[in-house]
Amino acid sequence: MSNDVIEATPEAPVAPQAFTVTLNIRRYDPDSGEEAHWQAFDVDVFPTDRILDALHKIKWEQDGSLTFRRSCAHGVCGSDAMRINGRNRLACKTLLKDLDLAQPIYVEAIKGLPLEKDLVVDMEPFFASYREVQPFLQAHSVPPKDKERIQSVADRARFDDTTKCILCAACTSSCPVFWTDGQYFGPAAIVNAHRFIFDSRDDEAKVRLDILNDKEGVWRCRTTFNCTEACPRGIQITAAIAEVKQAIIRGHR
Ligand code: SF4
Ligand code: FES
Repeated sequence: MSNDVIEATPEAPVAPQAFTVTLNIRRYDPDSGEEAHWQAFDVDVFPTDRILDALHKIKWEQDGSLTFRRSCAHGVCGSDAMRINGRNRLACKTLLKDLDLAQPIYVEAIKGLPLEKDLVVDMEPFFASYREVQPFLQAHSVPPKDKERIQSVADRARFDDTTKCILCAACTSSCPVFWTDGQYFGPAAIVNAHRFIFDSRDDEAKVRLDILNDKEGVWRCRTTFNCTEACPRGIQITAAIAEVKQAIIRGHR
């Protein structure tokens, strides 16, 4: 009897198959005088393509006037947040194979910010709220000569989650309070305030807590969790907002 080992023949890799998908895109051109409307585009894609790839194909091969923002294409710059099938996501992080391809795909601009063209909104109100919370380190003590400001691992961990924000606005523009009250700071501004409020090296936590104790501040949050579900960085936004509320009640971080 032979003891030869018969090895399984490795299966040849199967090349992914291209298929045609229909993207319904909410178009708006302020110069046309027309209302915003849906336009369908059939585009050949691979399952591993992302919504951003499909948008590029449409722009490059079918309609060069299609307008959207993107920069890094890898989930870092935060410029391509949009509503995809009714949910805020980054186009560059949304794989077609993760969507229900039996249904049409709908892509539109994020809500609650002024629409400029197609998928582009005016981000200025969003960044105005961001600037208001003073999102930068304000450390007044002088560290010993030639030494850094010491921070323990536990102190650094205190605000680690909120350092991950890429300012995409997916959270703020999914918040029903923000939709109805454009004055509300919104979750992204609170997340970025949290990042410095709980930084042990910073000396102006109280100033930021006073800013967020405003009538348009954290108390507008109704804990609907839309923001947390929308965040492409997985930041626990609702928990961060709750920590800021508790710090306001305590009177210090
Ligand atoms: S908290 Fe998340 S969803 Fe909100 S702006 Fe930052 S990265 Fe985007
Ligand atoms: S293009 Fe930069 S996050 Fe998507």
